Amino acid sequence: MCGIVGYTGRDNATPILMEGLDTLAYRGYDSAGIAVWNGEDIVMKKEKGQLSNLKAILDREPVTGSCGIGHTRWATHGEPSYINSHPHGDTKKQLVLVHNGIIENYVRLKNMLVERGCKFVSDTDTEVVAQLLGEVYEGDPLAAITNAIRLLEGSFALAILFRDDPTRIYCVCKDSPMVVGFGKDGAHIASDIPALLSYTRDVTFMGDKQIAVLSPVGIAFYDEFGTPIDKGCTHIDWDLDAAKKGSYEHYMMKEICEEPVAFRKTAEQYVSFREQPKLKADCFPWSDEDAKTVKRIRIIGCGTAYHAGLLGKKYFQELAKIPVEAEIASEFRYSDYVFEEGEVLFLISQSGETADTIAALRMAKQAGIRTVAVCNVIGSTIAREADEVLFTFAGPEIAVAATKSYLTQVTVLFLTAMRLGLIRGTVSEERAASLLSELADIPQKMQRLIDERGEIQYFASREFSARHVFFIGRGIDNALSMEAALKLKEVSYIHSEAYAAGELKHGTIALIEEGTLVVGILTQRKLAAKTASNLEEVRVRGANVLALTNGELPDIASHCSKVWKFEETNELLAPFLAIIPMQLFAYYMAVQKGCNVDKPRNLAKSVTVE
Ligand code: AGP
Repeated sequence: MCGIVGYTGRDNATPILMEGLDTLAYRGYDSAGIAVWNGEDIVMKKEKGQLSNLKAILDREPVTGSCGIGHTRWATHGEPSYINSHPHGDTKKQLVLVHNGIIENYVRLKNMLVERGCKFVSDTDTEVVAQLLGEVYEGDPLAAITNAIRLLEGSFALAILFRDDPTRIYCVCKDSPMVVGFGKDGAHIASDIPALLSYTRDVTFMGDKQIAVLSPVGIAFYDEFGTPIDKGCTHIDWDLDAAKKGSYEHYMMKEICEEPVAFRKTAEQYVSFREQPKLKADCFPWSDEDAKTVKRIRIIGCGTAYHAGLLGKKYFQELAKIPVEAEIASEFRYSDYVFEEGEVLFLISQSGETADTIAALRMAKQAGIRTVAVCNVIGSTIAREADEVLFTFAGPEIAVAATKSYLTQVTVLFLTAMRLGLIRGTVSEERAASLLSELADIPQKMQRLIDERGEIQYFASREFSARHVFFIGRGIDNALSMEAALKLKEVSYIHSEAYAAGELKHGTIALIEEGTLVVGILTQRKLAAKTASNLEEVRVRGANVLALTNGELPDIASHCSKVWKFEETNELLAPFLAIIPMQLFAYYMAVQKGCNVDKPRNLAKSVTVE
């Protein structure tokens, strides 16, 4: 959500800023802008809409300079427009800044600043920060920042250029990510790692209210009172190409095709596949004693991460026989929940920066509850703040629609449940060994599914005009249906719903009419016959029925117009295969409809505000 970049050094800042903004475009935006010191003045260029609009302006009116900041804005306060685009400045023209986050007390601050003579030009909360800084600025940028941030409520990541000190970029953040790094030609700042990877792999994540001052020769860090502090670097070993589209038309397809590798990389962190596959016990946060004290697990996430949590719930219940609840972070954080002793809170997040998930994490920490993150980004807020982190190794995920991150989250949750089950004696060594040896075959099976995607593309080419699609299943398949429905609606804008197959008859079946597409997911043998009956109930009411099955299921074909089957696998492992056709289906439906697959309307990759 919004993207910030900044550069100061020996090179021309403008192309670096534009490239960085392009890399961060996946976060979602509706306007963009830059401010560059050209040696005499700070020049601002901004425009509503796509980055190409800003680029066209820069082609007509080039800006050259060695220090600058840039921003892609996803509107929260004030419509997407030229006036509301960042950067914003103060009335006295002492500074310009870009901002991510939401200033919650902006109305109060704005009234106070208007009384003091500030002339506001935009509807944004961001301009309040620029005007506030302008009011408290007396020639010392660091002092102005430390004074101003004391008055701000809400979340912010700020990159600021002061006219008196125009070759330095001042940055500060709270509850909104920022990462800085020093490349061979200068210092860089960005909202997310991919924008820095072309310049450096050694990056520093900014902590809350910490200040970074970027100059052409280095980066200095200060605490919220302006006292110098030391901060280390984190080495990022993501492949640079992993954040690029390569020969693929869309990141989403590239990331689906990366799933066999992402799955294998993640599994190999937690499982030794030499000879007899075995869990690497020391990669999990529990000692034998420790694991026995876990009385209840609560899994928290948003969107796809929550859906991964729903599968995690099934795994913990089945393998470790522990009571589990999975909950949406935005609901959980305001639920007045009372934690119990022995409870463990799992936080699932690809980005590690989702505002609601961070809030849930902090609630648990305040209550003294043990927190375990399942996270893809080293150094992110959730990875830093959780007591323990089980990393996923999906690599950078650029498409807004989560695909490989979901798969790797489910992988980690499955293996963690198995580890707890082994310690607690609810999974035998034999069962674990058998599951793990089947797990070793999953990447090849996934690959074969991806290689055969032409069939899914063909199906989508006939169905893309569907107005409503229902996904139904039971148990694990119901959890999978929820992710399948989210994927389809977010990238193709087709209304899609997931419904527990047995619940249809209690109301929703009234929506089924001639031609409604119903997708049944049937990967669990003991439930398949029941879901098949539900498919028959919708078929006879005119629905067009597609079934996705785990191997050959008898008697399914007669209830469906189409059956997709994947190679038979243990039922607990079926989600790793079943999700791929569902993701491909969503992708091809969106492509057929001409949707912006990687950046669906209204969505942002990283939801850093409530
Ligand atoms: C799904 O495709 C979305 N990208 C979205 O639901 C996402 O999973 C959610 O916003 C949570 O993000 P996180 O994993 O980075 O916390």
